[in-house]
Order: sequence, then C-alpha cells, then structure tokens
Amino acid sequence: MVSIQKNSAMKHATKHAKTSGVTHLGIIMDGNRRWARAQGLPPFKGHEQGAKTLKVIARACQDRGITIFTVYALSTENLTQRAHKELEFLFGLMKHAFTKELDEFVAQGARIKVLGRREGLPSSLIDVIRHAEDATADCTKGTIQFCINYGGRAEIVDAVKAIGREIANNKRDPNHIDESIIAAHLYNPDAPDPDLIIRTSGEQRVSGFLTWQSVYSELYFTPTPWPAFTTEELDKALDEYKKRSRRFGGS
Ligand code: FPP
Repeated sequence: MVSIQKNSAMKHATKHAKTSGVTHLGIIMDGNRRWARAQGLPPFKGHEQGAKTLKVIARACQDRGITIFTVYALSTENLTQRAHKELEFLFGLMKHAFTKELDEFVAQGARIKVLGRREGLPSSLIDVIRHAEDATADCTKGTIQFCINYGGRAEIVDAVKAIGREIANNKRDPNHIDESIIAAHLYNPDAPDPDLIIRTSGEQRVSGFLTWQSVYSELYFTPTPWPAFTTEELDKALDEYKKRSRRFGGS
C-alpha cells in the first residue's frame, strides 16, 4: 500500500516536473497555531507540524523544477511581538533544520540562504545559520531561502544604508543610483524576483514579504493552514499560475 501511494505521488510529481514555469516560489507559511488549536493541540505543535510540511514542500519544489524556494519563517514583527517561549521553540526548530537535517540539504544539492537581520537572533542560531550556509555554498541544484527576522522594508533600509556608506566613502555617485543598484544591495542580489507567492490560512496580504522583489509576483491565497498544506495543493497553485497572464506593465 505504501509503495502504491509512493508510486502515485511520484507520477504526480513527474507530471508537474519542470513544467510549472515557476523559477522562484515564495511561501508565507501562516496558520500554524490556528491549525493546532483546531486539532485540540497546544499552539506550538502547529509550528512543529509546519516544519514537517516545509520539508515535504521543499522537496516537492525541487521535483517540480523550482530552483529557488523562499519561505517566511519569522518576520521582524514576530521577533518583537511573540512570547519568549514561542520564539525559543521556533529557534529550536530552526536549529534542528540547520544541523540535524543539513546532510539532507546537501544530498539534495540544495543551497541554504538566510535572509534577514542577524542582530536580535540568539548567537547559537547565528552560528548554525553560518555553518549551514557555508556547508551548502557549493550546492547547485536549487536554493532554499529562509526569511528569519526579515522585513521587506528593513531589507530596503539596509540596502539604502549600504549605498549611503559607499557614497560617504566616495565610492558611489548618488546621481547614478537606479533600481539595479538598489537590487544589487538586497540580502541576496543573485536571486531572481519571485514568480509566484502563496499565502496559506486565508489572510490576503503580503506582510512585508520580499517587498522590493514582489512587485510583479503573482499571488495565490488559500484557506488551508500551513501545517495542512500538501503537494496536491502546491500543484493546484502551480496550475493556477500557468493560467495567469504576466504582462509586467505591458499590454
Ligand atoms: C505563522 O503562523 C508561522 C510562523 C510565525 C512561523 C513559521 C515557522 C515554521 C513553519 C517552523 C519552522 C521553520 C524552520 C525554518 C524550520 P502563526 O503562528 O502566525 O499562526 P496563526 O496565524 O494561526 O497564529
């Protein structure tokens, strides 16, 4: 029975492999605690299940030819507004992913990048992030970007500060600043803009996710909470994306 299910899941993946047209997918993983409460579980169990869903969907993205997968794991607002205990729990899940699951990322050829401000994060997490980024630096089959202590406006502020320092050091002429210069100072200037952004759990907003990069991204909202999100639902979103007409401001 298990192998039949596996076979059918593989066929499903093969059908969608390399056909989605999505190079960069972003997901705003929302609804962890609501999912847990609806199951009668403690709220943090939602984060635990959310981390499991993340593993499944990251693998599915790779099977479908999506080479950059970015997830919103913790916003700058989450960091200041969530209870200490919840943050500790989330940091524990992240540390687990960046240490115990590191071999799996390497085996998959997936490069890890963490976008966001390191200050404000525990030093033990900063250390494992650095190690995971270094250990996967040569992986070329895809990139998984984790937004942690991330805010889209904060990212633009940080880019502007870096450019300001260059101007102060006479290394840049302010008259020659254009969009490409700002883009080159974002946290990962090499990543193309996201083609599609999915937000789970019914909220229909982007909450500062990849603010600069998302101006022409297609948006897909689903009521499904993140812990219950499946590869079938991913395929539904990818199918919907294929029907969209991306004009980038043209006719
Ligand atoms: C939003 O749901 C989700 C988060 C604030 C955390 C997302 C984190 C994970 C999925 C866990 C692991 C991350 C890594 C990198 C392994 P919410 O808690 O705001 O849910 P609610 O809207 O139902 O309250």
